[in-house]
Amino acid sequence: MNKSLYTIAENSLIATKTYKMVLEPLSFRPSEASGEICLGEFVDILIPGYFLRRPLSVCDFEEGRLTLVYKVVGEGTKVLSEMPVRGELEVLTGLGKGFDPEACRERSLLVGGGLGVPPLLLLAKRLKAQGKRVTAVLGFNKADEIILSEEFRTVCDEVLISTVDGSVGVKGFVTDAMAAARPSFDYFYTCGPMVMMKVVCNALEGPGEASLEERMGCGAGFCYGCSIQTKNGPRRVCKDGPVFKKEELIW
Ligand SMILES: Cc1cc2nc3c(=O)[nH]c(=O)nc-3n(C[C@H](O)[C@H](O)[C@H](O)COP(=O)(O)OP(=O)(O)OC[C@H]3O[C@@H](n4cnc5c(N)ncnc54)[C@H](O)[C@@H]3O)c2cc1C
Ligand code: FES
Repeated sequence: MNKSLYTIAENSLIATKTYKMVLEPLSFRPSEASGEICLGEFVDILIPGYFLRRPLSVCDFEEGRLTLVYKVVGEGTKVLSEMPVRGELEVLTGLGKGFDPEACRERSLLVGGGLGVPPLLLLAKRLKAQGKRVTAVLGFNKADEIILSEEFRTVCDEVLISTVDGSVGVKGFVTDAMAAARPSFDYFYTCGPMVMMKVVCNALEGPGEASLEERMGCGAGFCYGCSIQTKNGPRRVCKDGPVFKKEELIW
């Protein structure tokens, strides 16, 4: 785990109440090769005026720069959205365990919902770099909440969009888009609302993994505030996850 300072290079509105933030390291520059940033990892941000850090997934990572995509849902994310370019943030990196791209042999299926979509982008890039086929199924409530669809189209072999109100793509949920297109895969990865991931894990017969979201205290394995029950006993989402194999999870 590393605690370091970052400067805000970008903090822009990209969809309803949703921002893209790019952070440039000021001191320690984490690297993927040394395991300081892994796929599906989250960072824990100290927001000025708040004691508890806010966990956000790493959407993209290049030469130490972190891209995050976050939605304003409460006071902490509101303050974050108002921070100016060149402002500074203290960030914890090197937390938890992320996605395993090696688990996929040839054909991957990525299923994301809402603010669960961002960490799948970096995963898609790494899977493509390994020569694997990537199909992404991305679900949103409505058109003005769609994020990163162009970025996914640039990277993936196939991108399917679903919206609950039918304004873009297949009308309904990610499972409706999957039922319509029947993508073939040997391994799946999912991140999104718990109810969506439960349905996805139950609907898909093949092996896969899911990135869970829990309310966090310390974010680093000390307080046990994020514990969940798994088939292998209690596990901390921040330290043992956030990514867990499908077969470990009890829904
Ligand atoms: C591993 C992980 C990755 C996440 N990645 C993203 C992301 O990429 N983009 C995004 O928009 N959101 C993400 N979230 C959710 C994000 O952390 C919360 O929306 C955010 O902490 C809310 O803070 P707030 O102060 O605005 O809300 P408030 O409701 O005011 O927060 C109050 C407290 O609850 C905690 N909290 C609130 N909601 C959550 C939550 N869902 N999960 C964990 N702690 C929460 C906050 O840390 C804070 O301590 C992620 C959560 C986790 C656990
Ligand atoms: S949030 Fe403290 S152990 Fe996970």
